[in-house]
Amino acid sequence: MTLCIFGAGGHAVSVWDAARTQYDDIFFLAHTAPAVGGARLCGRPVFVGEDPLAPGVPPFDALFVAVGDNAARLALTKAVMARALHVPVLVHAAAYVSPLAQLGPGTCVLPQAAVNAGARLGAACVVNTGAVAEHECVLGDGVHLAPRAALGGGCVLGEGVWIGIGASVIQGTAIGAWSVVAAGAAVTRALPARCLAAGVPATVKKFYGET
Ligand SMILES: CC(C)(COP(=O)(O)OP(=O)(O)OC[C@H]1O[C@@H](n2cnc3c(N)ncnc32)[C@H](O)[C@@H]1OP(=O)(O)O)[C@@H](O)C(=O)NCCC(=O)NCCS
Repeated sequence: MTLCIFGAGGHAVSVWDAARTQYDDIFFLAHTAPAVGGARLCGRPVFVGEDPLAPGVPPFDALFVAVGDNAARLALTKAVMARALHVPVLVHAAAYVSPLAQLGPGTCVLPQAAVNAGARLGAACVVNTGAVAEHECVLGDGVHLAPRAALGGGCVLGEGVWIGIGASVIQGTAIGAWSVVAAGAAVTRALPARCLAAGVPATVKKFYGET
């Protein structure tokens, strides 16, 4: 089985690491060649282009969008799925995902992360290294839990939410779509959409405009 990873930045390297035990062959496709290494990344070839079905791009069985930006990753994943290409779920061999959890296409779970029973994650989510989505959490599409971020049980995160490195969200808390929780924050109450919350306990610092 061959996997095409779309992207060639830092997140793409992490995705390769999660995928390498599950695919016989992996290559990258990116808008531009990586700054370091040029035509190869993780020892695998990097093809430059935007269309995975363009002439010159090798055939593949599945395509995974590995772009760090939540909005871009979600939009690209939807575009790939609209072309009926197979978008897998990737779980690193050293992660834990409960058999009672659900993960949407294009979602990855990286080493030492845990997704516990009854959690439901949408498409194109990232559960980064050591992050925890406790029991019965519900994550919309395009959510990113950064390394060591932790959600208590039953949290509900809207589309595109980004929980920064080491931040915590107490159980049962709702966070509105496209909000950002800054690194190290402790969220103790519900947050509206499109806000930045930071600090311990977290308070709303500002709102982001529509894009
Ligand atoms: C929140 C973050 C994204 C910055 O977003 P931003 O929109 O550029 O925010 P700003 O820098 O304008 O900061 C707005 C306010 O929040 C404060 N703030 C930002 N990050 C903060 C943090 N981690 N803790 C406490 N306060 C923070 C700023 O000091 C500023 O406060 P002020 O208005 O009193 O001066 C960034 O600070 C952060 O925490 N990134 C997370 C990194 C991460 O998890 N990476 C994962 C890679 S895999």
